[in-house]
Amino acid sequence: MYTSRITGLGYFVPENIVTNEDLSKLMDTNDEWIQERTGIKERRWIEEGSNETSASMGVKASKIAIERAGLSKDDIDFIVFATLSPDMYFPGCGVQIQEMLDMQTVGALDVRNQCSGFIYALSVADQFIKTGMYKNILVIGSEYHSGGLDVTTRGRGVSVIFGDGAGAAVLSRSEDSSRGILSTHLHSEGKHARELTVESPSIAHWVPELLNNPDDISYFPYMNGTFVFKNAVVRFSEVIMEGLQANNLSVDEIDMLIPHQANLRISQFVQKKFKLRDDQVYNNIQKYGNTTAASIIIALSEAWEEGKVKEGDLVVLAAFGSGFTWASAVIRW
Ligand code: UT7
Repeated sequence: MYTSRITGLGYFVPENIVTNEDLSKLMDTNDEWIQERTGIKERRWIEEGSNETSASMGVKASKIAIERAGLSKDDIDFIVFATLSPDMYFPGCGVQIQEMLDMQTVGALDVRNQCSGFIYALSVADQFIKTGMYKNILVIGSEYHSGGLDVTTRGRGVSVIFGDGAGAAVLSRSEDSSRGILSTHLHSEGKHARELTVESPSIAHWVPELLNNPDDISYFPYMNGTFVFKNAVVRFSEVIMEGLQANNLSVDEIDMLIPHQANLRISQFVQKKFKLRDDQVYNNIQKYGNTTAASIIIALSEAWEEGKVKEGDLVVLAAFGSGFTWASAVIRW
């Protein structure tokens, strides 16, 4: 059995900064509410009229990650793309990456696990590497939320939270079992699927139905925020402990916890529960909002660039979100 190591990281966020003040001109909201409830100060939204999409942002992040891995696009032998905001209903963004990066005809898989998407994608890639099937896998998380949000007062409970952006990692085969991805743990609880969802369009609820009923807003995200929050704090804690225990590690051995950037209050709850210092937890939701499948990989890339993730460090990734799904990854860097 091989081990997989992250050998390259990259991220891309659109230049267009949207502040809480900007949002207060579109809907009945204010900076104080948003910062107090979520910690978010600003987010990046793709500029109107721009051609940027989840796939194109994914390409930009991927180019950086591949270069930092010291590889070329032709060294990549599989693509895993996580997103809830794909460019097309089908095919998925993975094949677009293959085309846009002018890659060999390697396999491409899309993962639809929303906020947990990046860890699910990482876990899939890890299994392919461990078994020896592939050597270098490109794992991407990318989201174009802003085009699909209800930016009126009706949608304010959701739309102020989400941001656009992409991150990518190259996962490579290693024969050093003391470093790399030590474990991943994945969970789901589908009975809560409708607590955080975009229901339409779907085959069950297709476009003509939507067009015939102007009151039908099931194409906008719906979130039962309080219920999601309560589940998130429990599941984050559980899945972090599950990952640590599987490796006979304890909380105080964590060098860097990178939680999915859902809400700063959720990260702070987890930090307090595990008595972690500020330098043991990385948050950037203040700048980017919640970028769903991209949030962990953007945060990991940024933390690494800032020198906060170093060789030998114990890095823990954890996520919770729509599905419900939740997951963790324990990595010896
Ligand atoms: O990433 C996937 C997982 N997602 C999460 O983990 C998100 C979890 N949930 C949350 O982060 C929080 O529940 C929210 C930030 C979404 C909402 O915070 P909350 O403290 O649960 O607020 P609430 O939904 O209970 O709303 C409180 C009040 C309501 O007014 P009333 O009914 O008390 O008069 C809302 O209408 O705040 C109002 N409100 C707003 N006011 C100003 C909701 N959104 C806004 C807004 N600006 N943007």
